[in-house]
Amino acid sequence: MTNQQLIDKLNSQKALDQAQWVQLFATFTEADRHYAAALAREIADSVFGKRIYIRGLVEFSNYCKQDCYYCGIRCSNRNAQRYRLTKEDILSCCEEGAALGFRTFVLQSGEDKAYSNAALCDIVSTLKSRHPDCAVTLSLGELSEAEYRALFAAGADRYLLRHETADAAHYAHLHPANMRLESRLKCLQELKAIGFQTGCGMMIGSPYQTPACLAEDMRFLRDFEPHMVGVGPFLPHKDTPFKKEPAGSFETTLLVLSLVRIMLPQTLLPATTALGTVHPYGREEGILAGANVVMPNLSPTAVRRKYMLYDNKICTGDESAQCVNCLQQRLQKIGYEIVQARGDYGQSSEPAK
Ligand code: 5AD
Ligand code: FES
Repeated sequence: MTNQQLIDKLNSQKALDQAQWVQLFATFTEADRHYAAALAREIADSVFGKRIYIRGLVEFSNYCKQDCYYCGIRCSNRNAQRYRLTKEDILSCCEEGAALGFRTFVLQSGEDKAYSNAALCDIVSTLKSRHPDCAVTLSLGELSEAEYRALFAAGADRYLLRHETADAAHYAHLHPANMRLESRLKCLQELKAIGFQTGCGMMIGSPYQTPACLAEDMRFLRDFEPHMVGVGPFLPHKDTPFKKEPAGSFETTLLVLSLVRIMLPQTLLPATTALGTVHPYGREEGILAGANVVMPNLSPTAVRRKYMLYDNKICTGDESAQCVNCLQQRLQKIGYEIVQARGDYGQSSEPAK
């Protein structure tokens, strides 16, 4: 089959064989990528209309006990300037976000044991009581099932935990031996079973990634049926073991976004900051390839530069309001608008055509 026939097959059957995925990732052309993007955009428009959801990201601590080889805030990086926001800091970022129209807050941090589970639950429940119309998404890494349960009971609605790669050998190339793909997948299963809207995802072009790894990621996404999928290019960070590794391909990232949209029409799919970092119009291209979410930063500008997962991250000098205006204009230019809505999975109000 030609690559475009494979894309049509994916659209009708919502699955491809391993060998077909490999063919697509190994041999796709610009024409194939545009073919997938047009189909993906048509699907996204039919589900979400011309509406883009925004999520306000609060990066509240860059302390991390983990040592992932790709990540700029890994514990071995002695050059990272560490910071922690207090409960009040976090609440005030969200307050500002609510005034700017955000109805989802994403609280993200490294795996930082300085915040007890009780303290995190308290932050979540306070945030929910102050903003009852808002969704709270957590992105705190791997926790115990009991901790996840407590956070859900405190009112958290969603959880993001990228699987990073669904290929165990590849996972071992990206992480120290104490981190196991198995544990990551167990967390994802638990999160979903507890009732979180659950997001997984992977970097594109991370070191040692092959077309077969991406095929494995697509199989995993099909089986897991996540509510959200975070996909962005790998970008090197100067203080990590991967500092000399090339950045992931912009084009492959866009193709993956389109294929995810075609396979999982309802999924919430952000045009990521990493995508906006590899290309000046990365986020717009991501939307045009099938994404339907953007996640501007609400962290205080004083700490933004310190949450550097990779080099040259965009928007680290901008106020929250500046980013919202900037994104509004950028999206308007391509025919989309930001909406003030929680944007829950499966709740899109676009009338069926
Ligand atoms: N390049 C791109 N993405 C990265 N992440 C971490 N480090 C990098 C990097 N160097 C992503 C991981 C993680 C998410 C929070 O950020 O996928 O899950
Ligand atoms: Fe932050 Fe454009 S979105 S400056």
